[in-house]
Amino acid sequence: MTERIAVYPGSFDPVTFGHLDILDRAAAIFDRVVIGVLENPGKTPLFTAAERVEMIRACLESRERIEVTTFDGLTVDFAAATGAIAIVRGLRVISDFESEFQMALMNRRLNPAVNTVFLMTSFSNVFISSSLIKEVCHLGGNVNEMAPPVSVEAMRRRFAEQREREARST
Ligand code: PNS
Repeated sequence: MTERIAVYPGSFDPVTFGHLDILDRAAAIFDRVVIGVLENPGKTPLFTAAERVEMIRACLESRERIEVTTFDGLTVDFAAATGAIAIVRGLRVISDFESEFQMALMNRRLNPAVNTVFLMTSFSNVFISSSLIKEVCHLGGNVNEMAPPVSVEAMRRRFAEQREREARST
């Protein structure tokens, strides 16, 4: 039987419990899920693509049939090169839907053979986003219940490095 592969593309800057929730749901549907970390997102990431991949990989130890890699260029090209039949995206709130809908239709126009599958996060993860937890962590808030330890520790280290650099330059 042909393997049913899905790609799960994103910035993952850094990976959160919301991402892992979507990932586990996708793994329950597809034979294999390949996470695609976008190399050069428009926004300046806090972590390099290699660092983002490492953090995700640390979360995959107890998970099977899930891989992680980086990609550059169009998501539909990454999906085709991976042999995927679907692009998985997570939906949290209604406001996510507008841009996701637009992206899904554009991707379908670019490659009609690849469908976008939207999965809903658990209610407890609805408010979690990488940008929000970065802001909260930067300001000293507790994000332990929002992101895996590997992400929380990496954010704390990165923000401490930034503070040290700023202190040295003043
Ligand atoms: O985690 P994000 O930042 O919401 O992920 C956005 C992502 C990576 C899925 C989107 O920006 C994307 O697909 N980028 C790759 C370039 C591309 O294919 N652009 C056209 C999308 S319609």
